[in-house]
Amino acid sequence: MSTTLFSPLTVGDLSFANRMVMAPLTRSRAGEGGVPTALMAEYYAQRASAGLIITEATQVHPTGQGYIATPGIHTDAQEAGWKSVVSAIHAQGGKACLQLWHVGRISHTSFQPGGAAPLAPSAIRANMKAYTVEGFVDCSEPQAMSEAQIREVVSAYGEATRRAMAAGFDMVEVHAANGYLIDQFLRSGSNQRTDAYGGSVDNRLRFLKEVVAEVLRHAPAQRVGCRISPVSGFNDIADAKPAETFSAVAQFLGSQKLAYLHIIEGQTGGERATDLVDFAALRATFKAAGGHTTLVNNGYTREMGDAAVSSGAADWVAYGVPFLANPDLVARFKNNWPLNTPDQATFYGGAEKGYTDYPRYAAK
Ligand SMILES: Cc1cc2nc3c(=O)[nH]c(=O)nc-3n(C[C@H](O)[C@H](O)[C@H](O)COP(=O)(O)O)c2cc1C
Repeated sequence: MSTTLFSPLTVGDLSFANRMVMAPLTRSRAGEGGVPTALMAEYYAQRASAGLIITEATQVHPTGQGYIATPGIHTDAQEAGWKSVVSAIHAQGGKACLQLWHVGRISHTSFQPGGAAPLAPSAIRANMKAYTVEGFVDCSEPQAMSEAQIREVVSAYGEATRRAMAAGFDMVEVHAANGYLIDQFLRSGSNQRTDAYGGSVDNRLRFLKEVVAEVLRHAPAQRVGCRISPVSGFNDIADAKPAETFSAVAQFLGSQKLAYLHIIEGQTGGERATDLVDFAALRATFKAAGGHTTLVNNGYTREMGDAAVSSGAADWVAYGVPFLANPDLVARFKNNWPLNTPDQATFYGGAEKGYTDYPRYAAK
């Protein structure tokens, strides 16, 4: 029988019920101090029939925040909040992966400790807006990180991984996509350093390599994945030669025997087509170098997902907005039931509305 979206999957000593992954989705509903809430536990538990839930992006360090009410994983209270979320997911038979995040320059001084300039590889402002308590404002001019600041943030990824494992997470995902800090180091447009962290592809990869090494000190490789978005321009990011840069990234991540490589194909949440990068080639590079599995994402329908998995092109398919609006997405796909309509107005912030109140399918 051929593999389908609903076939189980084993990675190392972890087994997953199916190949449908809930993609990471920032919902900006964390409590005071970036602490996950009981409502967040309910939201994730509702979606636990996914083979794997990747949580919303979660800051590893106080300087890593750039949006209101995003959760963290650098305090005891945050760790305890996540522990309750993971328990709720496990109680429903699901598996949970924490997305480790630092926004870098996609921030504003009002989010930063002491009102300092946000951290970035180079002092180049992103032409983006940050949503602060005062509403939308320009992202602040960042500061180029010193070597000491790099060391501090790299070690925060390790500490965050330690806390994630202590909270009971099955996996962690290094967020190297969407124009945030790691992606800012990888891509030539935002990284114009002249030291060992900038210039050549090898140098631009150095920050990611140090982060992954630190994460692997606290979690086995079979519990670590990484997300990339090689051609996405989201968050004002660009690279002169994305095929070259991300081929080196896939090769490195595979050589570390990571559990998975998660690729956003095309523009995040938008146009999938590109002639800049061959995503199948990146997946092959990752596996040939020793990586275990590959996840594809971005605008996948049930049919596209089934085709990707049954052809062997990918091992998993990550669905974002479809899981946001359909807690029972797996059953809906299995039975060909219609989908709920997502409500964009409640994607970010607020409470139950547009969060935990999307209905399960009920025959009329
Ligand atoms: C409301 C919302 C929040 C998102 N938050 C994150 C995030 O925290 N981390 C991340 O890597 N991607 C994030 N994304 C991107 C999604 O994970 C995904 O790549 C995108 O929605 C495309 O997949 P889809 O077509 O299946 O929705 C977000 C997207 C949306 C719509």
